Amino acid sequence: MSDAAANQLPALTYRPVTERDGAALVDFLTAEDWPFHYHLRPPLALVREWIDGGHFLEPQSLHLWVLQGAQRIGLVGLLDLEDIDDGEPELGLRITAPARGRGVGTAAVRFLCGRAFDRWPQLERIFAKTRADHIAMRHVLVRCGFAKEMHARRAWHRDGGARFDSLGYGLLRADWERSVVTPVPWNDAP
Ligand SMILES: CC(C)(COP(=O)(O)OP(=O)(O)OC[C@H]1O[C@@H](n2cnc3c(N)ncnc32)[C@H](O)[C@@H]1OP(=O)(O)O)[C@@H](O)C(=O)NCCC(=O)NCCS
Repeated sequence: MSDAAANQLPALTYRPVTERDGAALVDFLTAEDWPFHYHLRPPLALVREWIDGGHFLEPQSLHLWVLQGAQRIGLVGLLDLEDIDDGEPELGLRITAPARGRGVGTAAVRFLCGRAFDRWPQLERIFAKTRADHIAMRHVLVRCGFAKEMHARRAWHRDGGARFDSLGYGLLRADWERSVVTPVPWNDAP
């Protein structure tokens, strides 16, 4: 295969996580390192706690598997669904290491946002938080129409205590529908 072909976005499908996916979630979340999450590798007991507590399922969240053929190559989610009416549900995204760098993360975020805005007419905005040094995630968010709205210095800490700047991004329904990014009024007041 040529480099160009290897770098092409693969054909993707999406499937909601169901209550039968416990073992698959454990495999997916504990099989590799996640260097930009709080836990480099979430402990098994914690993952089981998430699963048993309904973290990956409605009504708490909408989580979709990102599939290439039958293979699970990613997990994209909208968390805090209780905020649908009057708040800002938060985006979550994990793509397995071998599948990165081919546009999968960008495609998955676009798909999830489209599905969420279609399904919940009252959903006004989607929030996303990431570390300042997570350049790939920042690219994904900007590609998908999110605007940077927050830069909180040293507000992100990870397991072990290291601190980083924390960034917040927002995607407005009105912007999504018109394919624009409304500027953030950074300089409105001292
Ligand atoms: C962040 C993540 C979702 C990106 O997914 P991906 O499928 O690799 O991203 P894409 O291929 O769609 O690339 C998106 C953009 O990031 C850029 N990018 C990808 N990897 C990069 C890297 N290592 N360094 C800098 N830029 C990078 C791409 O060039 C592209 O930018 P462009 O469209 O402006 O050219 C993926 O790396 C991941 O799942 N990481 C682990 C989990 C994680 O950190 N999740 C986010 C927590 S906040």
